[in-house]
Amino acid sequence: MNSNPVADYGLDLSNLPAHIAVIMDGNGRWAKKRLLNRVKGHEKGADVVRAVVTTCREIGIRFLTLYAFSTENWQRPKVEVSALMSLLKKFLIDETPEMLDNRIRLNVIGQIERLPDDVQVEIRRAMHVTAHNTGMCLNLALSYGGRSEIVRAVMEIATGIEKGTLKVSDVSDALVEQHLYTAGMPDPELLIRTSGEMRISNFLLWQIAYSEIFITQTLWPDFTKDELIGIIKDFQGRERRFGDVAPPDKQTS
Ligand code: FPP
Repeated sequence: MNSNPVADYGLDLSNLPAHIAVIMDGNGRWAKKRLLNRVKGHEKGADVVRAVVTTCREIGIRFLTLYAFSTENWQRPKVEVSALMSLLKKFLIDETPEMLDNRIRLNVIGQIERLPDDVQVEIRRAMHVTAHNTGMCLNLALSYGGRSEIVRAVMEIATGIEKGTLKVSDVSDALVEQHLYTAGMPDPELLIRTSGEMRISNFLLWQIAYSEIFITQTLWPDFTKDELIGIIKDFQGRERRFGDVAPPDKQTS
């Protein structure tokens, strides 16, 4: 990894998305196509996580959020859940030195308390030792669900109102945002989903209100640096209007 983001790969570095979010999908299908166990797909997927983190850091992305385990994923067979937890733990242990070298701050969003104790220990350790890094923030979404994140925010706000520290008239977009796991971070400008499914799957429901969405047919274990760069270039060619009209139409109206 290169700690100085200098590579441009033909990108307009003045128009990079500040925050990229990724739904990493297709590990199981990748394995099935090769007559392998699903866990092999997750293992290959973990290698791609490393490559994508490296690339985002290298080009100067400030926030990267990866959907690694959803609240719904707890329903998967025990053996698969357990393999995913082991992979996460290994990632946290193995990648901490790289994160330190490259000034990456690790942040976990989701129900950390539902994760196995040994994984929680590694999360807290990795978050603690990388807490002062300012090069890039890597959000790992673990036992994460967008609806439960919003419910949690509503409960915190309602508690404030009950205690008298907040008033109903204080409730606003900004206040809700302050109670999300991503408080203080820019919303993702680009949401990528691999493996062709046209779904949001309970990911960052509040934060993706105006995200540009890119869905690729590529299965996550086959996702490459070149494809990521190509998607960011596509993003840079899009016109973002946020519900407004394009400037020429505005002038003629
Ligand atoms: C979706 O593929 C992927 C997941 C549920 C887990 C994502 C995990 C990784 C990429 C590896 C571990 C992560 C880290 C951060 C080390 P799927 O199993 O739903 O695929 P399918 O839809 O083809 O069955």
